[in-house]
Amino acid sequence: MQKILVAHDGSKSSDKALKKALELSLSFNGSLTVLAVVPELYLTELPDADRNRIFESLSDETRDAMEKIRKSLSGKSVDVKTLIRQGDPAEKILETAQKMKVDLIVTGSHGRHGAKKFLLGSVSSKVVDYSKCSVLVVK
Ligand SMILES: Nc1ncnc2c1ncn2[C@@H]1O[C@H](COP(=O)(O)OP(=O)(O)OP(=O)(O)O)[C@@H](O)[C@H]1O
Ligand SMILES: [Mg+2]
Repeated sequence: MQKILVAHDGSKSSDKALKKALELSLSFNGSLTVLAVVPELYLTELPDADRNRIFESLSDETRDAMEKIRKSLSGKSVDVKTLIRQGDPAEKILETAQKMKVDLIVTGSHGRHGAKKFLLGSVSSKVVDYSKCSVLVVK
């Protein structure tokens, strides 16, 4: 059985990646894990209370997004799990992929922040560079 890990940051591009990952999981009869990483905030100029508030709202938003995804996939005949981690997105994606011994990581080419003029976002490009398993970057 194939294990697929798809990285989701709430962007349109990661929605495309999820769609592709779902198709692959269905055709391989594999399992699908959807991972969202809530990034650490390095806004050192902000007071702790403000930083915590932003972090909490990002975490809530991520939980809601993952819940929506879980519900939307619940009728499909594929074994789906959603995961939320905190930290550096690329590092957490790589670490989770290794721990779970997945066969494939699927990411979008861009995310929520990046300028499209760059060929690949920094998270997907770091995942491609450092992953030990195959990576599919969906365009
Ligand atoms: N926080 C995250 N959690 C899970 N997956 C992520 C996260 N951030 C990015 N990804 C994955 O990486 C893909 C590319 O996003 P990336 O962040 O590399 O591009 P970007 O936001 O356009 O540019 P950058 O973040 O470098 O300014 C996303 O489609 C998603 O699959
Ligand atoms: Mg990004």
